[in-house]
Amino acid sequence: MKHTVLIVDDEESIRFSLQGVLEDEGFNTILAATGEEALKILAGKEGIDIILLDIWLPGRDGLDVLKDIKRNDSRLPVIIMTGHGNIEIAVKATRLGALDFIEKPLDLNKLIITIDNAIYMKELEEENALLRRSAKKDSELIGNSPAIKKLRQEIKLVAPSDAWVLILGENGTGKELVARMLHNASKRSNNALIEMNCAAIPEELIESELFGHEKGAFTGATERRRGKFDLANKGSLFLDEIGDMSLSTQAKILRILQEQRFERVGGNQTIEVDVRVITATNKDLEREIKEGRFRQDLYYRLNVIPIVVPPLRQRKEDIPELADHFLKLFAPLNNGKKKTITEGAIKRLSQHNWPGNVRELKNIIERLVIMTPGDTITADEIPLLGPEVSSEIDELFDMALLKDARSKFEKRFITKKLVECGYNISKTAELIGVERSNLHRKIKSLGIDA
Ligand SMILES: Nc1ncnc2c1ncn2[C@@H]1O[C@H](COP(=O)(O)OP(=O)(O)OP(=O)(O)O)[C@@H](O)[C@H]1O
Ligand SMILES: [Mg+2]
Repeated sequence: MKHTVLIVDDEESIRFSLQGVLEDEGFNTILAATGEEALKILAGKEGIDIILLDIWLPGRDGLDVLKDIKRNDSRLPVIIMTGHGNIEIAVKATRLGALDFIEKPLDLNKLIITIDNAIYMKELEEENALLRRSAKKDSELIGNSPAIKKLRQEIKLVAPSDAWVLILGENGTGKELVARMLHNASKRSNNALIEMNCAAIPEELIESELFGHEKGAFTGATERRRGKFDLANKGSLFLDEIGDMSLSTQAKILRILQEQRFERVGGNQTIEVDVRVITATNKDLEREIKEGRFRQDLYYRLNVIPIVVPPLRQRKEDIPELADHFLKLFAPLNNGKKKTITEGAIKRLSQHNWPGNVRELKNIIERLVIMTPGDTITADEIPLLGPEVSSEIDELFDMALLKDARSKFEKRFITKKLVECGYNISKTAELIGVERSNLHRKIKSLGIDA
């Protein structure tokens, strides 16, 4: 795409020479001899990407024109052209919002670089605005099944209260999404939502993570660091995978959750915080308690309001809407064009049991967007998602050789677990109790597409 530069200079020779150079470089140019003319062009024409503005103009001077330009569109990049040694004016112009300035006589190479940079910055900013918008979209809970409607209603009721929430649900059902929604709809939404994955933090670091530490508290503590509790003050703290903490960590967490006061590691000043705690787990905590892996007192402390996120297989009517949502989300992978999906393909998706829930669906749609050649996804293109389990078992028993049945089972089993773990090899290996290297070998020998 060609970019358009508006050149504003009262000297005809400069206008024309700039036009020549810039068009050679692949830009479109528009010329204006006065500030008034430039403003008129800007008012009547869209698609100007950047302005080169001379300071000494007859009538209204450049700084004055700059003010007007910025008032109309504060993001339009303006590069000021000033006489040699006129730094004072350049500084003034920068304060008024000029992106950059360049001295006359013009160094054309420098000018081109300046323009390229300005356009790059503008595009980056536009891209970020788009990302911000889509990030916000991503925290939208899609679906209109009774289960999702109920969930949305619960979030709406619970969010404004300061109650602590425990979010329960299988892998990939949308627990993190629910946590974000709770925070965004709360009175605390102007303050931070700080997340911590309890499963990912080594036990000996958990206190320093949560409470922060003073400089020199331990080897490696080269600077004072604020902890998550500190950072979440007046906001929310989301403790994810709470069921994966060791018992001793649970004891530490319990103490601080009760007191909402703590000391930094290596410090002696007590810090008081006001934090709303939201937790999530895919474990059945009551069972964990029974088996001695989770503290009952902590469970009661956390379980002020439980919110259950239902698995996808219990709300298959959400699949078409979710699929559509993800097709939109992954349109950038198809040059911005959203692919469509046939009813047959949706039907096929609805037959699957979705052990990996919404995340699995999201991954599969992403894969389909990348892998299908056309713009329409048909049933034939849906990968084998595991037909009904019973018929699969029949198939295994029909095989003659143990070796074949075993590898068929292994392939299916490992694929399922990989999907559940978001194709994270280490996580899968841990889950199914095999060595990571061993799992790698299996994936290769069984021809699993990981
Ligand atoms: N109802 C929904 N509408 C739109 N997107 C969803 C929905 N549910 C889940 N997602 C998306 O699916 C992905 C997985 O969701 P999320 O990370 O919230 O799941 P989770 O329950 O925290 O999973 P895990 O237990 O593995 O941590 C995310 O990209 C999320 O945005
Ligand atoms: Mg999660």
